[in-house]
Formats: sequence, structure tokens, C-alpha cells
Amino acid sequence: MTIADRTVLVTGANRGIGQALVEEALRRGAKRVYAGTRQPLAHVDGRVTPLILDVTNAEQIQEAVERVESLDILINNAGLALYDDLSDRAAIEQSLAVNLFGPYGVTQAFLPLLTRSRGTIVNVLSVVAFAPLPIVPAYSISKAAALSLSQSLRALLAGQGVRVHAVLAGPVDTDMSRGFDVPKASPESVARAIFDGVEKGEEDIFPDPMSESMAESWRSGAAKALERQFVALVEAEPVKSA
Ligand SMILES: NC(=O)c1ccc[n+]([C@@H]2O[C@H](COP(=O)([O-])OP(=O)(O)OC[C@H]3O[C@@H](n4cnc5c(N)ncnc54)[C@H](OP(=O)(O)O)[C@@H]3O)[C@@H](O)[C@H]2O)c1
Repeated sequence: MTIADRTVLVTGANRGIGQALVEEALRRGAKRVYAGTRQPLAHVDGRVTPLILDVTNAEQIQEAVERVESLDILINNAGLALYDDLSDRAAIEQSLAVNLFGPYGVTQAFLPLLTRSRGTIVNVLSVVAFAPLPIVPAYSISKAAALSLSQSLRALLAGQGVRVHAVLAGPVDTDMSRGFDVPKASPESVARAIFDGVEKGEEDIFPDPMSESMAESWRSGAAKALERQFVALVEAEPVKSA
């Protein structure tokens, strides 16, 4: 999969990693970049088509689908991180609404276009999917759930030629991590690493120095082996109805 001449859709495209993904897709010669944002966006490059797209809004998702003629790469990047302590159920519900049901809803809606193009889905997740960061436990729950969603979609869509990549990012220097005082990668370097990973066909992408340090142990570890074992099991013996 190369980015040149492809059609790409990025959610949360107005700032942070999403904005960097739009610029990097253009730099790599994308034919069209749909920039999904909650507020109207203007872009100097004529290849960018803005779409009003709150990923929790089913009507806006449907309207976006109707405006997109074809799609090769869907990047579910939009995300929300709240500081919480698990005392408020609403924080978990809000995190799941944006970070789990957001990518779920957008993916389901664009699936006909993606299966037609034998396209690619990129879900921007976080290393907190592996182990919770207890200052953002609701966010961590939602990213762990979104990793599981990505793994199941990967298995379920492989037969239709659709690839699913999970991006397990460490800290990135954006508004989201402003209150978190640790070394951070630039959004531009992360965007480059995400597209490099997609072009190389890496199913799990570790796009920054912090996450990169765990890539090898993840790829050769017990959880990954079990993911493959379960896929093989289902391929060998498809689910029988009761
Ligand atoms: N920054 C990090 O350290 C880090 C690390 C690992 C993973 N990530 C992940 O990377 C992705 C991008 O985050 P970021 O760091 O670029 O954060 P950011 O600067 O806070 O940007 C978040 C983006 O998501 C959009 N968004 C939030 N809720 C939305 C909704 N309901 N519908 C549509 N768009 C929505 C925001 O739009 P508005 O401007 O309208 O709010 C904004 O464009 C997220 O999935 C995040 O979890 C970030």
C-alpha cells in the first residue's frame, strides 16, 4: 500500500496528530484527503475536502459517506482524553462514545467503500491500550477496547482484502498531552511513522521512540501469539450456527 494517488480520510483533522496526518498524506502525493472536523475547516491545498464529522453523530457520519465517492484509507484519529478517577461513570461513557463507538461507527459506515477499494483502516490508539495510565483510566479503558475492536476487525475483514492497522502511540506533543510532563514525539514525526508503517504493511505500528521500544516484545509476545492462534482457529473451523 502506497499513499501516492490514494484517497485518504482523517478524522480529528484540525489539530494535533490528525492535522499532521493530513499534511503528510499530501506530501506523499495523496490524490484526495478528506479532512473530518467538528468545525468548518479551510485548507489551501485543493486536494483537501473538508467534511463536518463529529464521530459520535450518526447523521454527520451518514452525510460524510454520501459526500465521499471512493476511499482507500480511513484513519480513525479523533480522540478524547479526560482526567478522571473512575468515580464518574459519565467519563467512561464519554470516552467510549468517542474512542470506541466513534471509530466503530465511522468504520461501519465507510465499509462498503473500503471493501470496494480493498482498502485500509488505521486506528490511532495508544500504549495505554496495553496498560492503563491511572490518571486517565476511562481513556485507557476506551483505548484497550478499541485495540480489541481493531484486532477483531482485522480478522473479520481480511477475507475481503481490507487491512486493519492499530497505531500504539506513546506520548505525542499535542493539546491532549499538555498536562503530562514527559518526553514527547512531534505530531509530524508520528504522522510520518504511521504512513511508513502502513506502507510497510505493519499491522501494529509503534510510531515514536517510547512505543518503538516495546514493538519487538509485543510482536513476539504471548498476546500476539494468542491473537494469531484465535484467527487460525476461526479460519480452520468457521462458526457454526446453533
Ligand atoms: N497526544 C498523545 O500523547 C497521544 C498518545 C497516544 C495516542 N494519541 C491519540 O492520537 C489521536 C489524536 O490525538 P491528539 O494527540 O492529536 O489530540 P488533540 O490535539 O487533543 O486532538 C484531538 C482531535 O480529536 C478531535 N475530536 C475529539 N472529539 C471528537 C469527536 N467527537 N468527533 C470528531 N473529532 C473529535 C478534536 O477535534 P476538536 O478540535 O473539535 O476538539 C481534535 O481534532 C487520539 O486518538 C489520541 O487518543 C495521542
